Amino acid sequence: MEPKEKIILTGDRPTGRLHIGHYVGSLRRRVELQNSGLYDKIFVFEADAQALTDNIENPEKVRQNVIEVALDYLACGLDPAKSTLFIQSQIPELCELSFYYMDLVTVSRLQRNPTVKTEIQMRGFGGESIPVGFFTYPISQAADITAFKATTVPVGEDQEPMLEQCREIVRRFNHIYGDTLVEPNILLPENAACLRLPGTDGKAKMSKSLGNCIYLSDSADEVNRKVKTMFTDPTHLQVSDPGHLEGNTVFTYLDAFCSDEQVARHTAGTYATLQEMKDHYTRGGLGDMKCKRLLMEVLQETLEPIRMRRAVYEKDIPAVYEILKKGCEVAREAAAATMDEVRRAMKINYFDDRALIEEQSRKFAAK
Ligand code: TRP
Repeated sequence: MEPKEKIILTGDRPTGRLHIGHYVGSLRRRVELQNSGLYDKIFVFEADAQALTDNIENPEKVRQNVIEVALDYLACGLDPAKSTLFIQSQIPELCELSFYYMDLVTVSRLQRNPTVKTEIQMRGFGGESIPVGFFTYPISQAADITAFKATTVPVGEDQEPMLEQCREIVRRFNHIYGDTLVEPNILLPENAACLRLPGTDGKAKMSKSLGNCIYLSDSADEVNRKVKTMFTDPTHLQVSDPGHLEGNTVFTYLDAFCSDEQVARHTAGTYATLQEMKDHYTRGGLGDMKCKRLLMEVLQETLEPIRMRRAVYEKDIPAVYEILKKGCEVAREAAAATMDEVRRAMKINYFDDRALIEEQSRKFAAK
């Protein structure tokens, strides 16, 4: 269906505090989009029901992180006056919609979803031991997106297969039942460093279990300590040695966080651009510690306002729950409106269909 409005929807599983990988991969962009004024509606939600699909024995973990992630959202500058912040489990329409979408997707199509494949491997769910809810979460994710008629979904590249599967469901639904749902578009981060920020140890991804994350809620000291021990170039032993940028985590982070203006300001004009600094490093003669020093300053410049805002919200936790509750009400209304259209399209709106009741009356009267 041709969308009438430009609508953003995105979210995160509340399984841990958010880290700077989330920030450059998605959060920073959301706040920019929110403040751009280019969108009619913005929904940002916590996928707690999805988090439970592989944490069904850890409800307390999910519950604890719902408030942590809400604080992270607000700290980053998501503004409840402009964006609807809500919690997935509080919107029963999403379950209802998922139930019907299940009939539009085959088991083999789900098995081919690359994200599901890797996640099943990562979690060691062997063969038949995959929880059905986990296996089918791409379907529920399609419900998350389409219930709000989202046109734009800003997420990391790992979510690409989810969006593709969602678009397939939309096409199949519209083909069978008539034009009802909107096909969403993915919005990926702008540069490679932001697409997949490695952990501080240089490993492919930040992950809580690897202990290689810098959290948005880390103190200034924690951030500095983590930067000091960051992975750089193992062949760069002496300052005079030529250094390598490839796989050098400090430079990947600088690419993700640091503007040329910041390079010039924090190095007192020694380098006008990040490229100049990189050139010096690869030539030899620039030590890792100087690069780390710049990264620390730039990270603090980014994280300090986030930390300050978080501290303000932490002082009034009931108000944060109230924000979420209000958000759930707004979200529920939007999802219910879509559900009405879906029920009508699927011919399961028995009681508000006068024509149906009349038609049946005539049929039985003529008997
Ligand atoms: N799967 C996403 C993640 O792991 C979270 C998510 C659930 C989501 N539903 C969504 C993201 C809908 C965007 C749109 O981060």
